[in-house]
Amino acid sequence: MLERRDAETGAVFLVAVHSSRLGPATGGTRMMAYPSLEAARSDAMRLAEAMTYKWAAADFPRGGGKAVIALTGAPLSPIDRAGLLRRYGTFLRELAGRFWTGGDVGTSSADMDVIAETGAPYVFSRTPERGGAGGSGSWTARGVFAAIETVCGRLFGERSPRGRSVVVQGAGSVGAALIERLAAAGARVSWSDPSPEAGERWTRHPELTRLPPERCLDAETDILAPCALGRVLSAGTIPRLRARAVVGAANDQLAAPEDAERLRGRGVLYAPDFVVNAGGAVAITGIEALGWSEARAQREVDRIGETLARVLDAAADGGITEDAAARRLAEARLQAGR
Ligand code: PHE
Repeated sequence: MLERRDAETGAVFLVAVHSSRLGPATGGTRMMAYPSLEAARSDAMRLAEAMTYKWAAADFPRGGGKAVIALTGAPLSPIDRAGLLRRYGTFLRELAGRFWTGGDVGTSSADMDVIAETGAPYVFSRTPERGGAGGSGSWTARGVFAAIETVCGRLFGERSPRGRSVVVQGAGSVGAALIERLAAAGARVSWSDPSPEAGERWTRHPELTRLPPERCLDAETDILAPCALGRVLSAGTIPRLRARAVVGAANDQLAAPEDAERLRGRGVLYAPDFVVNAGGAVAITGIEALGWSEARAQREVDRIGETLARVLDAAADGGITEDAAARRLAEARLQAGR
């Protein structure tokens, strides 16, 4: 774990490299305030590990890493924020390719443009105006949607989410894109987001029901899609779930490893987060680093549905949790070194 304190703002840059076995460590940069520096370090480390598993399960030649810009919580003017991002870019450049990055919670592709002013070439997901492939949110949503189709196929014998109820927790860049895809496919969508401004563009869609955030986890639904922060599935929340399946984009959804067993005990199908949410990272890095066309990126992201089907089969055949089955798949690729 590499750490550097930004003297001007007091923010701390944390870069966690978990594995470079399959390729250069690559993961998003998350920017937010944490209750403590310890909490920020733990987040960076767990998310870096999740990236290792994500790339391996997707069979993509990159390694696991994650960066956190831990803010102090004091307000940052746009000018201060841009300065902070440029200094972070300088830090990335000094790392000379040991870590490559893209967007995550709290950072946008416009932020990637600023980081790349000093951090090029180690920055993916810049805006198309600056030569990047743009934001990753709608790609991630595409992959989550493919995973939801697989899960609907298993639960109901029909892949289409038409008429199924889905609760989407979080209407950020991934959650909002997922809500729109699901609504277009005829699902019955409820969603929540703590921000009062969220969902302004849906005021003319009365079929999208807004829930208070605290109601999300115990809402009765076919599918719960966590698309906000991690560690939402825990000893405290799992007993309250009234969803048949959990299929969402948030990274690091299980608060503790035993929570996979807890979900199984309750008969809730769990689609492992690092399998389901790979679409953004895979599409953007594929387009920018491997020269994929848009059509190729779509095909690769849609494969998430098939990968998940393999994982669900392996879990059922082996009598193990979906999380354990997905880890085995990823570990086999890590061991083979490809
Ligand atoms: N936020 C992405 C994720 O968690 C990381 C990412 C985005 C990596 C874009 C590369 C490019 O998967």
